[in-house]
Amino acid sequence: MSDRHMGNPSAVARAAALSARLEGPGSVHLVRAPGRVNLIGEHTDYNEGLVLPAAIDREIWIAFQPWDRPEVELTSAGFDETRSFSFEGLSPETRGAKSWIDYVAATAWAMRDAGLPIRGFRGVMDSTVPIGSGLSSSAALEMASSWALAVPGAPRPDAGVMAAIAQRGENRYVGVNCGIMDQFASAAGQAGHALLIDCRVNQFKTAPMPAGLSLVVCETGSARKLEASAYNTRRSECELGVKLIAEREPGVRALRDVDEAMLERNRDRLPEIVARRCEHVVREDVRVMATVAALRDGDLDALGRLFAASHASLRDLYEVSSAELDAMVDIAVAVPGVVASRMTGAGFGGCTVSLVKHGAEEALRDVVLAQYQKRTGLEPRIYIVAAVDGAGEVKQDA
Ligand code: GLA
Repeated sequence: MSDRHMGNPSAVARAAALSARLEGPGSVHLVRAPGRVNLIGEHTDYNEGLVLPAAIDREIWIAFQPWDRPEVELTSAGFDETRSFSFEGLSPETRGAKSWIDYVAATAWAMRDAGLPIRGFRGVMDSTVPIGSGLSSSAALEMASSWALAVPGAPRPDAGVMAAIAQRGENRYVGVNCGIMDQFASAAGQAGHALLIDCRVNQFKTAPMPAGLSLVVCETGSARKLEASAYNTRRSECELGVKLIAEREPGVRALRDVDEAMLERNRDRLPEIVARRCEHVVREDVRVMATVAALRDGDLDALGRLFAASHASLRDLYEVSSAELDAMVDIAVAVPGVVASRMTGAGFGGCTVSLVKHGAEEALRDVVLAQYQKRTGLEPRIYIVAAVDGAGEVKQDA
């Protein structure tokens, strides 16, 4: 079996074991899709802004056998349960039990709704993406499903279009109002690179990760209870900001069209809280471009400043950080060799992302293990991750 697309060495063994669980006639196919971590550009995607995520070697695999039935039957090794759904009558209105299979069904519905042919299969899936920790296990499941469901030989739209289809499935079918970043990163990832995604046009460029820096994800272990409702509130606050600014500024249709000068000119029109949300988004877009330049130039001081500014803005202006995320960042930035650290993803718990000089990873791990639990009472988890290729079929050698 080829491990060309697999960042994680144990992936090959896991995938082989997964395939072996499928008995019966017919060849076994294998697809994979990575989770993601966002370097910077938070809560900008649904404002048609810029984001800079990387696909990471925490992945979902599905081993499957296509069959003639218009149905999917999938066993989750992690949940140790089998779920199924039929393509017949598949629609957001007839959505069944709320479960992990909904993300597969959502993708099937959205692909078919977009005019793409789909096929049924029976399969087994396994995952190393921690669930509910903000590393986009849902998007990874959607993108892996999109490969398993695709009819071989049918033209496949590019990663940005597939991401938009999967996002629509999650918005409409699952009912989660996410932006496009997570699906896009999982679909388009490139080994050793972050992706600069322009969420206005759904196109991306790759940004090499500097040699000598590791990506370290620290999970706070704190629940993300308020996430869905607070996320939607933030989205509406941004929309209100756009509406009020556009009354005076023709041509504004998203916060992407607003710069700092325009925001200042219009601040008096905005409720105070809306002005703060807009200020975060407008400045975060600028920080994304500055981060791309700092990564290119290997400017470690700038990276540290930009991550710190993003975190402070998410904490004070956008108000999506938490005491646990703040503590984790505080602890990390005091460790020698930690270049930059901030909360990543939607917030309200979940993970931080840090850029760490090679050789300092274990020191960071030791300090976090020694201090974080004392400060918060919660058990942290630390993942040293690598940027990997996006979702796809894994070719299996005979
Ligand atoms: C979640 C959403 C993304 C994005 C981030 C915040 O991960 O799924 O679309 O909005 O939050 O940057």
